[in-house]
Amino acid sequence: MSLDDDIGRILFSRAEIESAIDRIAAEVTRSYAGREFTVISVLKGSCVFAADLIRRIPNPLELGFVGVSSYGAGTRAGEIELHFLPSKREIEGRDVLIVDDIVDTGRTLQFIRTEIERGGASSARTCVFLDKPSRRVVPFEPDHRGFHVDDEFVVGYGLDFGGRYRNLPYVGALRPEILGAPRESRAKGG
Ligand code: PRP
Repeated sequence: MSLDDDIGRILFSRAEIESAIDRIAAEVTRSYAGREFTVISVLKGSCVFAADLIRRIPNPLELGFVGVSSYGAGTRAGEIELHFLPSKREIEGRDVLIVDDIVDTGRTLQFIRTEIERGGASSARTCVFLDKPSRRVVPFEPDHRGFHVDDEFVVGYGLDFGGRYRNLPYVGALRPEILGAPRESRAKGG
């Protein structure tokens, strides 16, 4: 039994992902111009991307994590619950780069950025592996992105379906029979 069998189509291969991460890492390195900063990885989806990204950045940096859950369709403020934030030392007075696997409605990253700013960060920028702009419900533009994606459910490279597929080294679309349920209820991906 292999996860690969459930994939109908590959969107981004391992090689395409590698070169996108090289590009993003170069952008991030340039934008912090040798300065120290803090990378905040949004659990769980971004752990794969964050791990690959930081190893391509030569600046001194600290790594922290933030845990959030979103509920229902995520259409109202307050439906995002913060489980934990990085320590004060990792945020206060520091330049912070928030890293996530995907931006969809934009609510999660907007919420986290506000919390990081409230925690006293000198600056808070955002970096996403995938950007699904057609699903946005709040105005949100990431500072760095890997790829744009259309509004279809994608898995792999950190993105899950029912907790599975995060460990695929590429990004793919699941076969329709695997996805099963009506698309509207699972339009996000990851
Ligand atoms: C996903 C993804 C983002 C968020 C994006 O997380 O990792 O954090 O949704 O959606 P938004 O732009 O509509 O707010 P998810 O809640 O699936 O948790 P996970 O990272 O643990 O898979």
